[in-house]
Amino acid sequence: MTTRTPLMAGNWKMNLDWKQGLALVEELGEQLQGVDAGKVETVVLPPFVDLRTVQVAVDAGKLPIAYGAQDISAHESGAYTGEVSGAMLSALGCTYAAVGHSERRQYHGETEQVTNAKVKAAFAAGLVPILCVGEPLEERKAGKHVEYTLAQLEGGIEGISAEQAAKIVIAYEPVWAIGTGEVATPDDAQEVCAAIREALRAMHGDAVADAVRVLYGGSVKSSNVGELMQRADVDGALVGGASLKAEEFAKIAGFQG
Ligand code: 13P
Repeated sequence: MTTRTPLMAGNWKMNLDWKQGLALVEELGEQLQGVDAGKVETVVLPPFVDLRTVQVAVDAGKLPIAYGAQDISAHESGAYTGEVSGAMLSALGCTYAAVGHSERRQYHGETEQVTNAKVKAAFAAGLVPILCVGEPLEERKAGKHVEYTLAQLEGGIEGISAEQAAKIVIAYEPVWAIGTGEVATPDDAQEVCAAIREALRAMHGDAVADAVRVLYGGSVKSSNVGELMQRADVDGALVGGASLKAEEFAKIAGFQG
C-alpha cells in the first residue's frame, strides 16, 4: 500500500461518442458517491471529441472526476492537420494527457523522440503527462522486460526537470497484458514499477522517487485491482476495457472499501 494518493485512470480508447461519453461520466459521478475522493483520484481519458461534453458534465455536477486526453501534439500550434495542442486541452480543463501509449507506438510509429517531445509539450501547457511504457511479449520472454521498459522511460523523460519528474505519472503497461485478459501478476507489476521508481531515484533523488505515481495497466478489473494495489510501488491503474462500465470502474476506484 502506498502513501501517495492512488490514481485510477480510465482510457476509453476509440470508444463512446459524445452522447455515450456523457452518459458514462454522469453515471460514474453517481457511482463514485460512495468513494472517498480524498483517498483516490479518479480520471477519465475520453476521445478528443468527447472532452467538451465531459468538461460541462463534470463542472455542472461538480463530479469528483478529473479528465484528460489520450494523446497530445508535440507541436505548439499551426499547420499540423489533425493534431490537437496542449493549449487546446488546457482550455478544456484537462489535467492529464497520456503520452506514448503502446497503441500509439505500434500503430502510429511514435518514436522515443516524439514521445519525449509530447511529454514536454504537455508540461509546457500545464498538463500532467501520463507516460506509458512497457514491453512486448518477446522482451518479456527473453527476460529483458525491465531493461526495455527503463529505456523507454529514460527516452520519454529526457531533459525534464526534477520538479516535472515529481509530477509526471508513469504507467507500466506490458503490451502482452493489454486487452488480452492476461493480467500481469502483482509480483510482475511490482517488479517493474519498483524498477521505474528506482531509476527515477537515480536520476532525480529521493523526493522525486517518493512522490511520483507509477500505475499498472493491462486487463485491470475490480476483481484483480485490490491485489495489485497491495504492492508497494503500484500507485494506481490505467484501465482500458473495464473503464467503459461506470459501475465496474467505480468499483476499481473504490478498491479500498
Ligand atoms: P485493458 O484494460 O483493456 O487491457 O487496456 C489497458 C490499456 O491499454 C489502458 O491504457
